[in-house]
Amino acid sequence: MAPAIETVNLTKKYGSLIAVNNLNLSVEVGTIHGFLGPNGAGKTTTIKMLVGLLKPDGGSAKILGNRIGWDKPNLRSKVGYMPELPKLPKHLKGNELLDLYGRMYGITKDKRLKQVPTLIDLVGLKGRENDLIGKYSKGMQQRLGLAQALLNEPKLVILDEPSLGLDPIGMVEVRDIIKKLAGEGITTFLSSHLLHEVEQICTHVTIINKGVAMASGTIKQIAAKLTGSFAVEVEVDKFSEAVISNLRKLPVVKDIIREGKKLLINLKTRDDARSEVSQAIAAAGGIVISIDLRGESLEDIFLRLLDKDKVTAHGRV
Ligand SMILES: Nc1ncnc2c1ncn2[C@@H]1O[C@H](COP(=O)(O)OP(=O)(O)OP(=O)(O)O)[C@@H](O)[C@H]1O
Ligand SMILES: [Mg+2]
Repeated sequence: MAPAIETVNLTKKYGSLIAVNNLNLSVEVGTIHGFLGPNGAGKTTTIKMLVGLLKPDGGSAKILGNRIGWDKPNLRSKVGYMPELPKLPKHLKGNELLDLYGRMYGITKDKRLKQVPTLIDLVGLKGRENDLIGKYSKGMQQRLGLAQALLNEPKLVILDEPSLGLDPIGMVEVRDIIKKLAGEGITTFLSSHLLHEVEQICTHVTIINKGVAMASGTIKQIAAKLTGSFAVEVEVDKFSEAVISNLRKLPVVKDIIREGKKLLINLKTRDDARSEVSQAIAAAGGIVISIDLRGESLEDIFLRLLDKDKVTAHGRV
């Protein structure tokens, strides 16, 4: 099956600034793909090219197997798009806006009458649909923007920073909506600068910085490709030097850091060595109270990638 989104060397320049630099992106159908990067990385610029709001300076892109372009209404009708901080007309009521957009999509009146309340309910605006958008909070406007993106029953939803302006509860709710969409077979591509958000919600991630894709794959692949080894964190009762000495004998153990009853055991591999570790502790008379396997989080990876980039940049100076 053709990818939901595929770009080849997609490039956009603003004067001498290369905002998106030879971007090769592939978003598989049915996935929730996070587009992760810091402010100014080129996320919005990429998304605007994908939805036909900006013309690329180089490369090409396909959405649902079709070349992107300005004159593709059929293609646009299959894609839902929520802009970054959507600017919605303040003089309309929430349900009026959805009805108006529905008309623009060519959705019949009967269908709109069913669809609008369903979406208002889905995004948690029930009871506020007859209020003017001008009276909505930022978070409510964001939710209405999301409802707008779902009006045309899209196969692909592109969301630019969907959590911006939402409080923690709102964020969880939006995450749940996106997961629900995925359950219905809808592909979601969302940009974010929030690492924990991407880690919690996305099946795949592409990391972008200064217009350049730095890594792409499943969350697991990215972690495995870019991180070092795992570590085991263990809390031990009846602690003795024999415990440490036994652990040191394990071939998989690289080094051990002790903090009171807790041990951080850095491993040489990315294998789960918890059973070996607890056996070694028990054999020396120690009692394992808790044992956890630790890998580098996406946040660690991201910071490290940015650090590497800084080092390279300094190297060039
Ligand atoms: N219209 C414009 N004219 C000139 N430069 C622009 C324009 N829009 C964006 N840029 C620049 O292009 C780069 C990428 O911007 P973009 O908005 O795509 O980043 P982003 O990843 O979406 O950032 P954020 O997380 O802040 O939304 C930035 O350096 C930005 O200053
Ligand atoms: Mg942006």
